[in-house]
Amino acid sequence: MSELYDTYWVPSVLDVFARGLADRVGRGDRVLDLACGTGLVAGYAAERAGPQGEVVGYDPTPDLLEAARAKSFSGAPITWVEGSGESMPFDDAEFDVVLCHQGLQYVTDRAKAFAEIKRVLKPGAMFHAGVWASAAHQPAFGFVEDALAKYIGPEQKPVHAWSFGGLLELKRLAQAVDLTVDRLDTVERPSRFSTIQEFVDVQIACAGRTSDDGQLVMGLVDLEDESLLPAIDAFAREAKAELAPFAKEQTLTAPFASDEISARA
Ligand SMILES: C[S@@+](CC[C@H](N)C(=O)[O-])C[C@H]1O[C@@H](n2cnc3c(N)ncnc32)[C@H](O)[C@@H]1O
Repeated sequence: MSELYDTYWVPSVLDVFARGLADRVGRGDRVLDLACGTGLVAGYAAERAGPQGEVVGYDPTPDLLEAARAKSFSGAPITWVEGSGESMPFDDAEFDVVLCHQGLQYVTDRAKAFAEIKRVLKPGAMFHAGVWASAAHQPAFGFVEDALAKYIGPEQKPVHAWSFGGLLELKRLAQAVDLTVDRLDTVERPSRFSTIQEFVDVQIACAGRTSDDGQLVMGLVDLEDESLLPAIDAFAREAKAELAPFAKEQTLTAPFASDEISARA
């Protein structure tokens, strides 16, 4: 499934946000990419940090780490480490920068993860993170969670995409561990899909949910299960109606909104 994620979801949606986050890395920095997945942000961070820097990509999902390990990146050397944000195997004050792109919404114990982030940052070092804005603040895709719940099942509602809790939740979590908030901002960037149907297919195949053992499972449903086809078609019809204003010719160009925080230890 990580191939689908890298082939469709990354270039269509994630890449532009990931670059924006990694742009905050300086030459020679020692960087932690928390919830690194298949290594998108870690790769850009390594380019920015350069050969004198160091990057650690950290994630609890072995399949995604394996995909990351198989890639080659330039710049700083990258070490891939398995584990969850709630308990990190790093020393106090190890990092100049901690980045986390679309990972915090999957963390079960947010308070613990923020305490760990604060602990591993050097004094004065920066934490930069982005989580999808809530449905009400998504200019195009806000309908998605309700539509998935309606057509495919209520258990699809908490896919964690829009459910984090907004800028105020980011601020609350950061301030609770004495991080000083420098920036809170909802950032909109265009996503591009060659058709609305492609968005539907990618959404069904790549949307993430957390399994009972804390790993990220991609794919909302079993795509082999033909009994779900009518429900997926109904979701596709609603998506086509909702997204029609954003489609030109065939191409869908519509903004995603991400809530971003920059905070100092
Ligand atoms: C949507 S992916 C984002 C991956 C990557 N940052 C990117 O931008 O492509 C969410 C990631 O959060 C990770 N994750 C889930 N639960 C986590 C936890 N408790 N601690 C740290 N990462 C977690 C998943 O394994 C997954 O790689």
